[in-house]
Amino acid sequence: MSTPAPPYTDPRTRCDRTPAWGLLAAHYARAGRSFDMRQALAQDAGRVQRFSQQAPHIHADLSKNLIDEATEALLLQLARECGVEAYRDAMFAGCPINHTEQRAVMHWLLREPARALPAATPFVADALREVHATLDAMLQLAEQVRADDAITDIVNIGIGGSDLGPAMAVKALDDLRPSAKRLHFISNVDGMELGSLLRTLRPERTLFLIASKTFTTLETMTNAQAARAWFVAQGGSDVARHFWALTTNLEATAQFGIRTTLGFWDWVGGRYSLWSAIGLPIAIAIGAENFRHLLAGAHAMDQHFRQAPLEQNLPVRLALLDVWYRNFHGFASRCVAPYSHGLRRLPAYLQQLEMESNGKGVDAVGEPLPYATSPVVWGEPGTNGQHAFFQMIHQGPDVIPVEFIALRQPGRDLPGQHPRLMANALAQARALAMGRESPDGNPHRAFGGNRPSTFLLLQALTPEALGALIALYEHRVFVAGAIWGINSFDQWGVELGKVLAQDLEPRLASGDATGLDASTADLLHRLV
Ligand code: F6P
Repeated sequence: MSTPAPPYTDPRTRCDRTPAWGLLAAHYARAGRSFDMRQALAQDAGRVQRFSQQAPHIHADLSKNLIDEATEALLLQLARECGVEAYRDAMFAGCPINHTEQRAVMHWLLREPARALPAATPFVADALREVHATLDAMLQLAEQVRADDAITDIVNIGIGGSDLGPAMAVKALDDLRPSAKRLHFISNVDGMELGSLLRTLRPERTLFLIASKTFTTLETMTNAQAARAWFVAQGGSDVARHFWALTTNLEATAQFGIRTTLGFWDWVGGRYSLWSAIGLPIAIAIGAENFRHLLAGAHAMDQHFRQAPLEQNLPVRLALLDVWYRNFHGFASRCVAPYSHGLRRLPAYLQQLEMESNGKGVDAVGEPLPYATSPVVWGEPGTNGQHAFFQMIHQGPDVIPVEFIALRQPGRDLPGQHPRLMANALAQARALAMGRESPDGNPHRAFGGNRPSTFLLLQALTPEALGALIALYEHRVFVAGAIWGINSFDQWGVELGKVLAQDLEPRLASGDATGLDASTADLLHRLV
């Protein structure tokens, strides 16, 4: 099942062809550029309430951003004129909105409860049945591994979406992991990574999960072969028991000697796949019931995104801020600062989710875009970032919007640490917003302030809250991509480098630089 049924015409209007775009440009020149959030916070008693909202599992405070009601109203007009709602409905109807690959985009279906969906097409209804059959099988396998005392180490071999999501989630929910199970994530085609881990493993106690949507990715296949060679060399005898596959390419796994394979579908993008079979390491770490809670949290956010009016729709409001900052203020990057050690891999995960999705330079019909798309997304957990790059965010000439993510309840805490961590999160957001005049007139000690940030507050890092948080980001990326008129679901930009690497690898042995540019030829000669 790969060809979605519903006929489809892109319902969107490109953002720069809407009336709202011109109105926003004029509004920016008149009031947006010089907007002073400190004044707004001091003078407008209703501001915090108006720019705060509760979405499933997440409280968001947007009041320390460079917006007022007039700006947000124009941005909402932009969303409507671009056809965001119709485009969202097309995704949830299973239309092939990933039109460059002729695929539906249905990661949301992976967290849809098993029930008859009103108005679902046969394509979507069939897909949901397959989703639940695979989910049940996956959770059964996860419980089997959890109950198998012989297996102590689970090694996920995968890269990109087959690594970042599961690795991030397993770290975030580490409190739920049984201490007798260790999970490892191997991605890079650098023997240093897998080689260092293998030294610590015993074959009879290790389960390798080969995670690859395509089952052709060079890094993953190379590491999988190396792991199998190590396994056999160490006396491991039962490849089928110790190597499982998570993939859409079921045929390729048999050739590897794998008999336990969990499948998924071409309508799940790699960077949206942690809810599918790719989530098996998460399910092993947290158990079947908690995995279902993760899905339920994401589903709650799906419902919010589908049903809340745009004015109170958190993914929409965050995406509109992204557009406002990127296209009108010209801010080129956004910093993600989780004040939660558990969320330390969230920035890396978001880099793929946002930049691989929305780092596009042509619109849906291939016309070059005259405006910017994805910002650079980067970050580190707080407070570590404070002692590294926050200097630049406070005083550098570039304005970098920051996203603080904090928890009301800590996970595993030590006395006094959580209030200290939270005080720092609040302090950074406040310092960026309010600034401070230099106490002694020394300009080096002055903080200009008026630097934007968003504050996302979760009650605790539960599976539900994590699910909701990830789905929030997925839908935010969707809305920004919808407005920019791009296809957020392909990734052609990764192809060229892969092809060139295939050409260059044999040249590293032969030294043949024929046809290469002068710089690459010189570097090649230094490497052979
Ligand atoms: O090269 C980029 C990419 O295709 C990502 O989109 C994907 O998540 C990653 O490679 C891994 O792909 P696969 O799961 O097919 O191994």
